[in-house]
Amino acid sequence: MTPEPHSLTDTDDTALSPPPGCPAHGTGPGGLRRLYGPEAEDLGAVYEKLRAEHGAVAPALLHDDVPIWVVLGHGENMHMVRSPSQYSRDTRLWTPLRDGTVKPDHPLMPHIAWEPICCHAEGDEHLRLRGAVIGAMSTIDHRGIRRHINRATQDLVNKFSEDGRADLVGQFCEHLSMAVMCEILGMPDEYNDRIVHAARDMLKGTETAIASNAYIMDVLTRLTVRRRADPGEDFTSHLINHPARLNDKEVGQHLRVVLIVAYETTANLLANVLRVVLTDPGFRARLNGGQMTVPQAVEQSLWDEPPFSTILGYFAKQETELGGQRIRKGDGLLLGIAPGNVDPRVRPDVKANMQGNRSHLAFSGGPHECPGQDIGRAIADVGVDALLDRLPDIQLDCEEHELRWRASISNRHLVELPVRFAPKPQRDVTVRPAHTLSAQRPSNGQVGTPQRQTRASESAVPPTAPTPTPTPTPEPAPRPGMFRRLQRWWRGD
Ligand code: HEM
Repeated sequence: MTPEPHSLTDTDDTALSPPPGCPAHGTGPGGLRRLYGPEAEDLGAVYEKLRAEHGAVAPALLHDDVPIWVVLGHGENMHMVRSPSQYSRDTRLWTPLRDGTVKPDHPLMPHIAWEPICCHAEGDEHLRLRGAVIGAMSTIDHRGIRRHINRATQDLVNKFSEDGRADLVGQFCEHLSMAVMCEILGMPDEYNDRIVHAARDMLKGTETAIASNAYIMDVLTRLTVRRRADPGEDFTSHLINHPARLNDKEVGQHLRVVLIVAYETTANLLANVLRVVLTDPGFRARLNGGQMTVPQAVEQSLWDEPPFSTILGYFAKQETELGGQRIRKGDGLLLGIAPGNVDPRVRPDVKANMQGNRSHLAFSGGPHECPGQDIGRAIADVGVDALLDRLPDIQLDCEEHELRWRASISNRHLVELPVRFAPKPQRDVTVRPAHTLSAQRPSNGQVGTPQRQTRASESAVPPTAPTPTPTPTPEPAPRPGMFRRLQRWWRGD
C-alpha cells in the first residue's frame, strides 16, 4: 500500500477533537490518532490501525497533541537507524521543541531533554562517548558475570523458596537485573532494596521520581570519586580511565544511562520470558521437551514483547522520504520496535516461531545499536534457567487474565507475576554443585538444552577440582555429566 503523502505540519488546519462516543474518538487535531490517553491503553492495536490507514510510516500525536511520525515497518525502522546522514538522535533538532510546542513540563521530557550522553550524540562526539562505554564493556569478564548471575539468582530464590509463593516481578526480575548491574559497575555493596525502589520509582515518573533520581546520582557520583582515587577492575574504573577522558559529569551520566537502561530492559525481559514459560503450555512443553533452549525462548520474547516498545526518537536532519511519507527537516520519528517486529511483511504469521532468527529490532541497529545486548541476554538466559532449575514445579498463582500491565509509550510491562510452588529448602550457594545433581532433578522440570546439554545454573561455583584444560581429555567413567559441567565451567556458560 502506498499511503497518501502526508505532512506533520498539516495538522494546523484542523478541526477540534470529536466528542466521546463518536467513532473518530481517540483522534486529535487533523484526525490524527493519539498515542496517549485512555484511547491508547492498547498501543499495539493503535499501531495496527495506523498501519492499515497509512502504511509503514504514520502520522500520530504525542501528549499535548505534539506531532510525531510512527515508524511501523521493519525495513523502514532499519533504514532510519542505519542512515545517520538523514536521521539523528539529537533532540535539539526537533521542530516542536525548538518552537516551544513542547513545553518544559511535557510528560515525556525525561525522554526528550537533551543530555551530553552517547544516546543523544552523533558523529565524532558519539564515537568518543560510545567508544568509552564500549571500551569499558570490553573488559567485563563474561564468564565471571554468568557465575555472578547464577549466584544472585540462588540468593534471591533463597529468600522466598520456603514460602511456596512469590511475586517474580518484585522479588526476582527487578532485583536480579539491579544486583548484576551493581556488580558490573563495581558497587556490589550499593545493591539493596533502596536502590531497586529508587530505580523503579524514577521510571514510573511519580512525584518522588526527582528525589529517587537524585539518590541514584548521589550513589554514582560517590562511586566515581572512589574509583578516580582508587581504580579497580570494574566497568566504572575502565570508563574513567578510557583514553576518551570523560569528565566527572560525563562519567556520572553514562553510569546512570547504563544502570537504568540495563535495569529496566532486563527486568522486563526476565518477566516477559517467565510469563510466557508460565502461561503458554506449548512454549513450556517445547522447553521441557528439549525442542527449545532458554536462549531461544529469550530470543522469541525479544520478537514478541521487546523490552523497549518504542524509542523517542530520531529526528530528520533534512527533507526526506520514508515509507511513502514526506518527512520535513526537524520532524520527529518514533523508532517503532514493537510494531516493526510484527510487520506483516517480515512476519506474515505472528504466531510462527522465529527460532534462529535474530533480526528483531529489540536492540535497534546502526550506530546507536545497544552495546549491552550480550549482558542483557546473559542475565535472562542464566537467570531464567537457574530459577526453573530451583523451582521446577513453579506455576502461575492467578488466572492469566488477572495479570496487570503498566503501559507507556516506551514499554509495556507486568506489574506483578504471582507464582506458587512446593516450598523448598534454601540452597547453600557457597558449596559447589553436587555431581549427581542432574540425575536427581525431576524430569518434568528439565529445560531442554539440546546444544548445551547441561544447564547454566550448574556452573554456579567453580569446582575446586584441578583446572581443566581447553583440550578435551578422555572422559574417565565417572558420574554422568561431570565432564560436561567442567567443560561448561571452563567456557563460562
Ligand atoms: C534486554 C536488554 C536490553 C535491551 C532490549 C536494550 C535495548 C536498547 C535499545 C533499543 C537502545 C536504543 C538504541 C537506539 O537509540 O537506536 C539501547 C541503547 C543503549 N543500551 Fe541497551 N538494551 C538492553 C540492555 C542493555 C544493557 C545490559 C546495557 C549495559 C550494560 C545497555 C546499554 C545501552 C547503552 C549505553 C545504550 C546507548 C547506545 C548509544 O546511543 O550509542 N543496554 N538499548
